Amino acid sequence: MTPSLHEHASACAKVILLGEHAVVHGQPAIAAGLPEALQLRATRLPDRSAPLRCVIPAWDLDFSLAEVSTHPVARACGDVISHCDGPLTGWRIDGTTAIVARAGLGSSAAITVALARLVLGPGVAVESVIEASMVGERVFHGTPSGIDSEVAARGGVLRFVRGQPPEPLTLGRPLALVIVPSGVVRNTAQQVAKVHHALERWPTVTRPLLENLGRIATLGQDELLRGDVARFGELATMAHGLLGALGVSSPVLDELCAVARSHGALGAKLTGAGGGGCVIAVPDGPAETLADVFRARGLQPLCVEVRA
Ligand code: PMV
Repeated sequence: MTPSLHEHASACAKVILLGEHAVVHGQPAIAAGLPEALQLRATRLPDRSAPLRCVIPAWDLDFSLAEVSTHPVARACGDVISHCDGPLTGWRIDGTTAIVARAGLGSSAAITVALARLVLGPGVAVESVIEASMVGERVFHGTPSGIDSEVAARGGVLRFVRGQPPEPLTLGRPLALVIVPSGVVRNTAQQVAKVHHALERWPTVTRPLLENLGRIATLGQDELLRGDVARFGELATMAHGLLGALGVSSPVLDELCAVARSHGALGAKLTGAGGGGCVIAVPDGPAETLADVFRARGLQPLCVEVRA
C-alpha cells in the first residue's frame, strides 16, 4: 500500500516551570504542555512524485524533502517520516502556530510529534509518537534529555527526572502564566556547556546550586498540587536567582523578570536554557494586564493557562 498521511495533527509546545539545567545533572524538572500549539494539515500534491513540502510561515519554514542534505529541519522531518514509514513524496504539509521558534518553547519537538501523528494517526500509542519524535530531536539537538518530546506528545504537567518515566501531575488549580519572548537568540548546547564549566571550576558551589534548583522544583511541585500560586511564584523567583548564579541568565532576562515583579507579578524566571529565549511571569490578577506592560515595550507576550 502507498504510504499516506492523515489530514490533521497537532502537538503541544512546552514551558519548563522549574528545574531547567539542574535536570541535566539528575535533578527533577517540572514542565507543562501548551496544548494545540502547532497544527499541521496535510494535502496531496498534484504530482505524486514531487518531494514532500512543508510550509510553516510563523517559523519562516518552507522546505522540501529534496533539501535534506542542506536543511537540518528538512533532515529531521524526513527522518521522522521515514521512521514512521510515511510518504516522502506527493504531499504538502501546512503548519500554523502562535509559538515562537528557537526560544525554549519546544518548537522542534512540536513539529516532530505532530509529523509523527500525521503519519501514524490519532489512535497510535503515545510511546510510538515519542520514539519517532526523538529520531528528529537527535538531528536538532544531538543528545536531548527527552523532556521536550514527552511534553509535546503527552501534554499536561509532568515531573521529569532524566532516565525515568515522566510523572503526570494534577494541579490544585490552573496556573496562569505570561510568557515573554526576549527576542534574543540563544544556543541550548552553549548554555548547557556553561553549567558544565562552572561545575568543573567551582564544584563545591555549583553542585549545591543545582541541588537547590532540584529542591525548588520539588517544593514548587507541592505548591502547584496544593494550588498555592503565590508560593509557586516565590519559588520561581528564587530559581531565577540561582540560574543567574549558574551564569545562564542575562541582563535582558533579569530586566524582564524585574519588570514583571515591579508590576505586581507573584514571581518570574527564565525558562529553558536561558541566555535569551523567554521568561515566564506569574500574574497576580488578569494575565492580560501584565502582558500589556510587555506589549508597551514592543514585545509579544503570550498569556497561557496551564491546567492538568
Ligand atoms: O532548549 P531549551 O531552552 O528548552 O532548554 C532545555 C532545558 C535544559 O535543561 C537547559 C537542557 C535539557 O536538555 O534539559
